[in-house]
Amino acid sequence: MTMNPFDGAQASAIDLNSLAEQYGTPLYVYSAEGFVASYRGFATSLSELDSHIHFAVKANSALGVLQVLAEQGAGADIVSYGEMKRAMIAGIAPEKIVFSGVGKTDAELRSALSDGIGQINAESPAEIDHIIAIAEQMGVLAPVCLRVNVNVDPKSHAKISTGQRSTKFGIPVDDGQAEALYQKICQHPRITPMGLAVHIGSQLTDLEPFETAYKELLALADRLREAGYDVPGLDLGGGLGIDYTHHTAVDFARYGALVTRIFGNRGYRLGFEPGRSIAADNGVLLTKTIYVKDGGDKRFVIVDAAMNDLLRPTLYEAYHDIDCLNPRGPHPLVADIVGPVCETGDYLGLGRMLPDVQEGDILVVRSTGAYGAVMMSNYNTRPEAAEILLKGGKVHLLRPRRSIDQLLALEQLAD
Ligand code: LLP
Repeated sequence: MTMNPFDGAQASAIDLNSLAEQYGTPLYVYSAEGFVASYRGFATSLSELDSHIHFAVKANSALGVLQVLAEQGAGADIVSYGEMKRAMIAGIAPEKIVFSGVGKTDAELRSALSDGIGQINAESPAEIDHIIAIAEQMGVLAPVCLRVNVNVDPKSHAKISTGQRSTKFGIPVDDGQAEALYQKICQHPRITPMGLAVHIGSQLTDLEPFETAYKELLALADRLREAGYDVPGLDLGGGLGIDYTHHTAVDFARYGALVTRIFGNRGYRLGFEPGRSIAADNGVLLTKTIYVKDGGDKRFVIVDAAMNDLLRPTLYEAYHDIDCLNPRGPHPLVADIVGPVCETGDYLGLGRMLPDVQEGDILVVRSTGAYGAVMMSNYNTRPEAAEILLKGGKVHLLRPRRSIDQLLALEQLAD
């Protein structure tokens, strides 16, 4: 099992206080060694299979992080041409890139095809028509995989569940649409059929929905093969959850065993799109206490990171562990940890037990290596948090904090 680099004994070598001082707060800190360990843990769990891992760039798209994964041989799962650019700059070859998402524009499809993208996961008949038209104009073959909807509830938060028919994702299997569309794809001279894809949601902590979805996918693939269609690969998506409360290591082995049991020796090339399980525990967000305010009924620890730096608590009521780096004795207090943004929903944690936090103290918000920095905004005209990577005992500044002037540089007054 892989260890959390910011937790327990491993963390003692990392002086987060001095990083906060040197680079300022709010500050995202990532561990390259942690990313490598998680990636290898995932890969090892699949070692009996013909498997290809495409890191979900949306989880953490920092170029320096993608570079670490590229060096490990990772491919990329992208959802915009912007993410494709990032992956290629970081050293991921275009043929190792999979393009997901329900709304790829013509311009994005054209750019991806001209760069030689490895696979496009199509999600609607209209998208397939556009892919064919573009491939014809360009005189190329388009590598198309069909993302299907197996109507399985992933038992996760509603806003990150994608497996049910009621969501916008994939082509339904249960009414025969997926089967008919795949047959159409196979017969088109401009398409290279790549197989079928499924992704039922994110932050799955129960393996059972994976099992149900994967068996549905396999049954469809087998039916198509028996009917004589070419189904070279199955893309099993991402979704493996982490333990935000205890940050115990992700049990890649259990997931790998499940996949091996279902797909072992079935002759499909397997693709995976993990994001959170590789990234979340390998990053933390450091934030400084601005004020402590006794609100009568409640105490508020007001910090310099806000919902624009970490949106997950506000958007999904997500829980992130928060610790104080400078515990000052035995007076714990219960407080809401809130940011400076003018919204009641702007908080990082509610009703948290903390040591006697004082102005200037640094708090560490854990498991923020996935869906943290990538979801930042400039709401309230706040420059985004900076990002650094710890790699080989050195600190690398991946993204400096922008000045207010830099933030406003592209804006103009009306004539
Ligand atoms: N593949 C596809 C097609 C996806 O849509 C996603 C995530 C992944 C792979 C990676 O899933 P993961 O292994 O990370 O669960 N912002 C939300 C999560 C959104 C996930 C969207 N899709 C959050 O902060 O929880």
